[in-house]
Amino acid sequence: MEEIKIFAPATVANLSCGFDVLGCCLESVGDEMLLRKNSSGEIKITKITGQDLPMETDKNVAGVAVRALLKELKSEQGFDMEIYKKIKSGSGIGSSAASSAGAVFAANKLLGEPFSPLELLPFAMQGELLASGNAHADNVAPALLGGFSLIKSYQPLEVLSLPNPPDLRMVILHPLIEVRTKDSRSIIKQSISLQKAINQWGNLGALVSALYTNDYDLLGRSLQDEIVEPVRSILIPFFDELKKIARESGALGFGISGSGPSVFALCKGEISAENVRQSIQKFYQEKEIDFDLHLSKIGNEGVKVIQ
Ligand code: HSE
Repeated sequence: MEEIKIFAPATVANLSCGFDVLGCCLESVGDEMLLRKNSSGEIKITKITGQDLPMETDKNVAGVAVRALLKELKSEQGFDMEIYKKIKSGSGIGSSAASSAGAVFAANKLLGEPFSPLELLPFAMQGELLASGNAHADNVAPALLGGFSLIKSYQPLEVLSLPNPPDLRMVILHPLIEVRTKDSRSIIKQSISLQKAINQWGNLGALVSALYTNDYDLLGRSLQDEIVEPVRSILIPFFDELKKIARESGALGFGISGSGPSVFALCKGEISAENVRQSIQKFYQEKEIDFDLHLSKIGNEGVKVIQ
């Protein structure tokens, strides 16, 4: 195989109670990328559409991630990369993760799959390190593995895939302001009270149980965050009002997607999600704030070949 085109999904990290350890992948929102082997031995980014991103390999997360993979293999293979961005940078739905995960997935395929999807994670995390100064895995893991991922530990890296209850739908509202992950990480407090930790790990454990038992109600009640959300939500216009509207319109839970400014409403079923989508849309239109709005299933597959 000389050339491959892939779809790299957007992802929702943290899911309220799982800061840096939990994320899920969207089925119908994501980027496309094309990778082609070249004979120059260089990794070249030949085209980027949709976003203004660096073309230099060492400054682009996709280039850095593929370089890490090739280094591990001691391979001199070169690639041309075309990146078709649909996910906006700084949106909070894993734009850098989609590029990093997509690039290593595609390169791995063209090289005859020397690595499993799980083994590709550390390379994709190098892209996250470049983008945000921190090699978190809660976007790249679900982007590569699909469904829900739990990072059990970072050192050593241990990642678990969790079940994806079939009726889940995700509504994403992206207020069109850019929040850099680096900045929104810098405002988080470095220590928390024992009481808050107790509440958080109670919710995280319950959320995992809810995914295994298809308990949508428990899932909704577990989507709580007393640690990061109170600090980061001040960056998101009308966060409290949005949360109230989403809950009153039937969302199971509502929170910040990754480092924001996107917010998510997790819903049960298409009709409920559509209802939530419309309520949020109406509210933001009245406030005259520009936004993007997405409604998607949780993708089971993660990055996938489309051509
Ligand atoms: N867990 C990361 C954060 C995700 O919240 O900073 C960034 O998308």
